[in-house]
Amino acid sequence: ELPDIDDAGQVPVTPRRRTSKLAIVGAGAVGSTMAYAALMRGAARSVALFDINTAKVEAEALDLGHGIQFMPMAEVVGSDDIAVCADADVVMFTAGAKQKPGQSRIDLAEATISLVRKVLPSVVEVAPNAVYVMVTNPVDVVTYAALKISGLPPSQLFGSGTVLDSSRLRYLLARETGVAVQNVHAYVAGEHGDSELPLWSSASIGAVPLLEWNGLGGQGALTAEVRERIAHEVVDSAYRIIEGKGATNYAVALAGSRIIEAVLNDEQRILPVSSLLDDYYGISDVCLSVPAVVGASGVGERLAVPMSTDELAGMRRSAEAVRSVARTFGF
Ligand code: 2OP
Repeated sequence: ELPDIDDAGQVPVTPRRRTSKLAIVGAGAVGSTMAYAALMRGAARSVALFDINTAKVEAEALDLGHGIQFMPMAEVVGSDDIAVCADADVVMFTAGAKQKPGQSRIDLAEATISLVRKVLPSVVEVAPNAVYVMVTNPVDVVTYAALKISGLPPSQLFGSGTVLDSSRLRYLLARETGVAVQNVHAYVAGEHGDSELPLWSSASIGAVPLLEWNGLGGQGALTAEVRERIAHEVVDSAYRIIEGKGATNYAVALAGSRIIEAVLNDEQRILPVSSLLDDYYGISDVCLSVPAVVGASGVGERLAVPMSTDELAGMRRSAEAVRSVARTFGF
């Protein structure tokens, strides 16, 4: 349809559609790959990268910008000025200490929390209505600290949690069973870290409960031994990758983009993000991942996933592990 032409022979300017703006704090391996993933998937119309390292953030934005021709419509800017994040709809916080081979995520808590203290309040000042997603490790402790530091409501700030771990679990289950990863439905819950646990009792392959799976052609069930090996491999994944290449970036960037899309498109998508729990099976006052509804206003209802006694005990242990680290830092 052609636009109307007004009396003066001019095509009236149509009001610009409100663009969706993604701001990424931290232009390291995770932040810049997340910008790349979000641009490739057309997740946001406008992507802003912030980092205190001027040369790095400008170079990343330039390199990404040079690829815009080959992506869905978008624009990308990078700056060492926090104002670049102004009026963002979603903020992904990826800045923080880098995990070295042999270090656990928990070892990064002190450095990352002090960085959040320094940076987050000024981001909130320029983007008060954004949904905030903490990505930096140890993500559950950092999310809890960020809620206290920012004073934002718990729906508006949450952590990327075990979205990544769940995709690692699904990848391994798909390989084990020979079924497409898209047909594997399984969540990792709890801490994004050593105490996390797969929720086997609610997992399914196709419509078959995972615990009743007998294998294609009766090749065999996912025995307790196989499940144990897979659970271990999920926990070990990040250590293996960091050992080999110094950081994890691709899968976490895609998991981040999934969250960004859920927020910017108001999808009401169920994702295992880390949020402040309030009497979730009796667990309160700690940020942990459980399947939750994610949309434009942030994190909504946490699903009461049916859990076995073992799984509930595992969730409580995970809550204790995260809480005790948070307490060490005065939260
Ligand atoms: C990951 O799981 C290190 O938390 C990061 O890849």
